[in-house]
Amino acid sequence: TQNYRITLLPGDGIGPEIMAVAVDVLKVVGQQFDIQFDFQEALIGGAAIDATGEPLPSATLDTCRQSDAVLLAAIGGYKWDSLPPHQRPEGGLLGLRAGLELFANLRPAQILPQLIDASTLKREVVEGVDIMVVRELTGGIYFGKPRGIFTTETGEKRGVNTMVYTESEIDRIGRIAFETARKRRGKLCSVDKANVLDVSQLWRDRITNLSQEYPDVELSHLYVDNAAMQLVRAPKQFDTIVTGNLFGDILSDAAAMLTGSIGMLPSASLGASGPGVFEPVHGSAPDIAGQDKANPLAQVLSAAMMLRYALDQPQAADKIEQAVLQVLEQGDRTGDIMSVGMNLLGCRAMGDSLIKALAKS
Ligand code: NAD
Ligand code: IPM
Ligand code: MN
Repeated sequence: TQNYRITLLPGDGIGPEIMAVAVDVLKVVGQQFDIQFDFQEALIGGAAIDATGEPLPSATLDTCRQSDAVLLAAIGGYKWDSLPPHQRPEGGLLGLRAGLELFANLRPAQILPQLIDASTLKREVVEGVDIMVVRELTGGIYFGKPRGIFTTETGEKRGVNTMVYTESEIDRIGRIAFETARKRRGKLCSVDKANVLDVSQLWRDRITNLSQEYPDVELSHLYVDNAAMQLVRAPKQFDTIVTGNLFGDILSDAAAMLTGSIGMLPSASLGASGPGVFEPVHGSAPDIAGQDKANPLAQVLSAAMMLRYALDQPQAADKIEQAVLQVLEQGDRTGDIMSVGMNLLGCRAMGDSLIKALAKS
């Protein structure tokens, strides 16, 4: 029996609902593949603020550090929206990424054939889309200094954030992106705003430089405004995309819609060493929280990424992905991916259906 310590961070909003489904699924594949999960639940986000006053208690970071991998659901909600930035739930998530040095965020966006009708885009535009967004996660404008709200000499307030990348930060995410592209279709598109931003000029220069080490990967560059347009115009031109923290945040939500719903998109946040965090791309969806309406599949697919990337259990990961395809094939849908003639299910019922599919195959 393989034994793994997994920290579970259910967080806020729909977080606990989708996490419950992912844990049930992991337990079933654990039995099937002789894997023992030692789950340890910890607080983050609004739930942690309410219990301890801080969005990332040090006990949570310690628990994460001692585990083999971290499965995170989502954080945030209206209740905490008026707190200052570092006290907000989002500050907890950023602190976790920084604390574990998770500089590489892999966000695959793949359209499943069963969901083509769920996309808001035309079939011929999305059919066959398979993109990997490699988002830098611990730098850029999210972490650059100076930052804050300051008062000027005239008494006016001035909000400041700073977009910063060092050469080494660009190189390490660049390497991950080239390696990723190499294992896929060998195409890498670097997205920046080098026509305006100095930090982006440095980004472009370094990525161009790095490409000499990867002659088998075809490198291209796009400005972020054009990239956003191209993603919805002709998404099939993309294989792997590498970009900074803020642009990656925005482009990955846009890429999500190519797949039918943000409720389908998993991600892996990885560092050079230590445990990774596996989390859906979406947030805590406060508008549907507590109503059993959330799509748990992004969370379940994040658990599959955890098995593949952190625990070296590709067969168990395959099994989960197959079960997801199976339930979609039989017409099961949550509201976000619903289309005519399909069976509308709640979050729990979707979980039950997945468990049945796992048991059958
Ligand atoms: P969101 O991703 O939570 O929701 C955007 C829209 O997508 C909503 O209409 C929501 O109902 C829908 N949606 C999202 N996930 C869904 C799912 N699994 N099933 C069905 N529908 C789903 O983004 P938002 O509304 O901008 O942010 C809400 C809160 O979440 C904010 O506090 C934000 O900071 C936080 N957030 C957290 C994370 C994270 O924890 N990684 C990511 C994004 C946003
Ligand atoms: C995401 C989220 C986070 C981000 C927020 C909640 C801090 O939008 O994971 O995409 O901007 O990185
Ligand atoms: Mn986001």
